[in-house]
Amino acid sequence: MYKLFRLVAWSVVITGSLSACSKKSQKSPPDQKPDPAVATASKEIDRKMLSIFGQLPKHFDSKTNPPSPAKLRLGKMLYHEARLSRSGTLSCNSCHVLTEYGVDGEPTSPGHAGARGDRNSPTTMNAAGHFRQFWDGREPDVEAQAKGPILNPGEHGLKDAAEVEKILSAIPDYVAAFKAAFPEAGDNAVTFDNFAKAVGAFERKLVTPAPWDDFLAGRDKAISMEAKIGARNFIEVGCTTCHSGPLLGGTRYQKLGLVKAWPRAEDPGRKKVTGKDSDLHMFKIPSLRNIEKTGPYFHDGQTNSLSEAVKLMARHQLGVELKGAKLASIIAFLRSLTGTVRDKKLLQPPKLPDDAPAPEAVAQDELKPAKLIPKKVKDVVPKAPPNKDDAPEPVPPQP
Ligand code: HEC
Ligand code: HEC
Repeated sequence: MYKLFRLVAWSVVITGSLSACSKKSQKSPPDQKPDPAVATASKEIDRKMLSIFGQLPKHFDSKTNPPSPAKLRLGKMLYHEARLSRSGTLSCNSCHVLTEYGVDGEPTSPGHAGARGDRNSPTTMNAAGHFRQFWDGREPDVEAQAKGPILNPGEHGLKDAAEVEKILSAIPDYVAAFKAAFPEAGDNAVTFDNFAKAVGAFERKLVTPAPWDDFLAGRDKAISMEAKIGARNFIEVGCTTCHSGPLLGGTRYQKLGLVKAWPRAEDPGRKKVTGKDSDLHMFKIPSLRNIEKTGPYFHDGQTNSLSEAVKLMARHQLGVELKGAKLASIIAFLRSLTGTVRDKKLLQPPKLPDDAPAPEAVAQDELKPAKLIPKKVKDVVPKAPPNKDDAPEPVPPQP
């Protein structure tokens, strides 16, 4: 009997301190009517509801591309290597800036000769954990994906695998680095396939654990009360029917405009890949990790406002109008997904190999002589301009 009394007394104390704490996080004056979203906080989020999510792994494994320190070192250099582009100025890091959460902050990216593609650059952080790559999922993994931008005329713009191999073979330190990373290949280590494997191995380390992961691990105080309410709202509103798992997305495709037609319908999505009508406007459900930092949002970068993006999602994917405290709580929850790569050295630009002593080895007529290309190429992609008038004219998306 005494035991029961103690239990009841304790739960009163706990519930009391919980609601006090939630009021504090909302910063509402004591005489104001309690916010309904906050009032339910004493129910807090049932940890049973959290099984729909999951903590991030240490890195994303691959059976066919096991990691090694030599491969990682090479992959990191290649990620920053602008000599693998027609202009000599673009690297993966131009559009997926590692120190900027793996994005360039542009609606769509200026590539070769400043020409803009029609899709937004998604982040390379945690991308290796997606079930497929690209907005339309046209490549299976980060290794296969890495070859795309190199040969894309609007991006790095090289001609073919042979050209990639020729450029790399002419730089002695790369030849040595490929041999160290792929010892089984002997003298044939410098290949386009191995380029892709090295870059892929590097990307598999770009994992960004966040306060949210600490919370999932059982540390209740890792995130604010508002973020916990937001997590529950995120589930109850229905966002998790699509954004679930450790990445909160990246597990399958879904139609954009499922409940209500999407305002911009130019991009056919997965239909572009399969030709099937049933794939019209189907896109990969993106991960929401670091979402606070990776705007502009959506495949065409249509908005730079996270709360606008969340409202659009609720309206068009779920038929719900989100506003006020509920919307704010979901944003607070999404902010708890902002994390960092634990090993900060991975994010710093490496020292790139010097050019070959004999530049004529690479000087083809259509290539710039290697010695003209600055060794440390600064990222050429400008930050999002402060106002629209400063922005370069974007190329309208192709129908
Ligand atoms: C000119 C800008 C640009 C450059 C340079 C570039 N990318 Fe991308 N990247 C993009 C865009 C745009 C997309 C999305 C295209 C699409 O989905 O059709 C993308 C998609 C990706 C994805 C898929 C992510 C996801 O969520 O599906 C990965 C991974 C990636 N790039 C890695 C790389 C690597 C590695 C390099 C260097 C070899 C590179 N990118 C070079 C612009 C660029
Ligand atoms: C029916 C599936 C579905 C539901 C439900 C859904 N989403 Fe999405 N979400 C998607 C798809 C698909 C995209 C990719 C859109 C595109 O290609 O432009 C996306 C994109 C996003 C983006 C932009 C991501 C980026 O990197 O640009 C955010 C933010 C987002 N969703 C948040 C939410 C929130 C919050 C909810 C709940 C209110 C929600 N979503 C509900 C399928 C869904």
